Amino acid sequence: MDKLAIIGGRPLYGIVPISGAKNSALKLMAASLLTDEELVLENVPRLADVDMLLRLLNQHGAQSSFEDATLRLHAKDIISTVAPYDLVRKMRASFNVLGPLLAREGKAKVSLPGGCAIGARPVDLHLKALTAMGAKIDLDEGYVIAEAPDGLQGADIAFPFVSVGATEHVMLAAVLADGETKISNAACEPEIVDLADCLNAMGAKISGAGTASINIVGVDRLAGVTHRVLPDRIETGAYAMAVGAAGGELTLANADIDLLGAALPVLEKAGLSFEKTNEGVRVKTTRDRSLAVDIETKPYPGIATDLQAMFTAMMATADGVSHVKETIFENRFMHAPELGRMGAKISVDGQTATVTGVARLKGAPVMATDLRASMSLIIAALGAEGQTMVNRVYHLDRGFERLEEKLAECGALIERVSE
Ligand code: UD1
Repeated sequence: MDKLAIIGGRPLYGIVPISGAKNSALKLMAASLLTDEELVLENVPRLADVDMLLRLLNQHGAQSSFEDATLRLHAKDIISTVAPYDLVRKMRASFNVLGPLLAREGKAKVSLPGGCAIGARPVDLHLKALTAMGAKIDLDEGYVIAEAPDGLQGADIAFPFVSVGATEHVMLAAVLADGETKISNAACEPEIVDLADCLNAMGAKISGAGTASINIVGVDRLAGVTHRVLPDRIETGAYAMAVGAAGGELTLANADIDLLGAALPVLEKAGLSFEKTNEGVRVKTTRDRSLAVDIETKPYPGIATDLQAMFTAMMATADGVSHVKETIFENRFMHAPELGRMGAKISVDGQTATVTGVARLKGAPVMATDLRASMSLIIAALGAEGQTMVNRVYHLDRGFERLEEKLAECGALIERVSE
């Protein structure tokens, strides 16, 4: 199993190319099942999660080629409507093939999903919504068995709380349904807008994406198009916070800071300054030590839960005490004890971590526990004194493209150690 060895204490200077958004690319890839024409996705990050979904789409019948961040997907014929456990369990986004398969083929058998160990993460909202659209759904031996022999019908879907995955899933199913679907309390994440833009280019009739009310009028068929995946706002935030922890100045090429939502003013308050440039965004520190700031994760435009662990790491060496409240997932502080091994003073009480900033962390062997938590350990290690060895790097490979290469190019001492 690979490890990452990092010797901290070196400020970061240089250019980091920000990749296409993983969370957008995965849902756009699922959209390829909705058409018998070719869908070309540009700016797709080469990540373990993308490869995993690609394998799943291939076994459903999609032909593919992936070169220089351009992914071509052509699901001319669906040869299997079964998404097996082995291909779905590792990543939750795979579950979103259910809607497209059901919409196009009238049936699907999809394993219940896995993904990061950050809480219960049920799919009840997805299933209720598809049922409201006329699907007959049974659960059997860990599989969802769904049928809609006469196709799906438009429905009014009112979500009790905001779910990104369920909002995207309804969109992916409703575009080919008979009639109109209205989603209320929809997620407003930029990735939802990206998906709607792509589907609309394919011929779908979606309005309101990016607001809490989305309207979808079903169409008979969708066509192939070329679509560019939007930049990854979580990766953007990650490298900005790496500067917060290690110091220096980075140009985040292709980044769009407007996608950071409420995280932007918080990072500025903590001591980072951002400047839009022709290339993307320039980020630097304005203080020797970050300033402690309180945050609460919220659906977009609130602060993304995916940035919480990294922000906690940045606060570990901030001046003062900060309170980090996680409102989206119930078990998302697994990084706290790992950061504690490096000298961080973090106490977790229910949904809130209280972080008392220390002047410096010290390198230590630590364990990556989930994708975004792994990045928090990297951020902490970059600012720490001495060597940190991050174990279980496969979590990072799921979501951060060419991580050690990008960091090394900016002066970080980071090396992958294979065993
Ligand atoms: C969530 C995050 C998303 C992040 C992703 C990966 C939010 C609103 N969503 O998206 O920003 O990129 O994790 O970390 O911040 N839930 C149910 N039943 C369902 C679906 C969801 O109870 O059927 C719950 C979840 O357990 C969670 C909340 O709803 O507590 C939001 O989940 P959801 O947005 O669906 O999760 P993801 O799509 O994975």
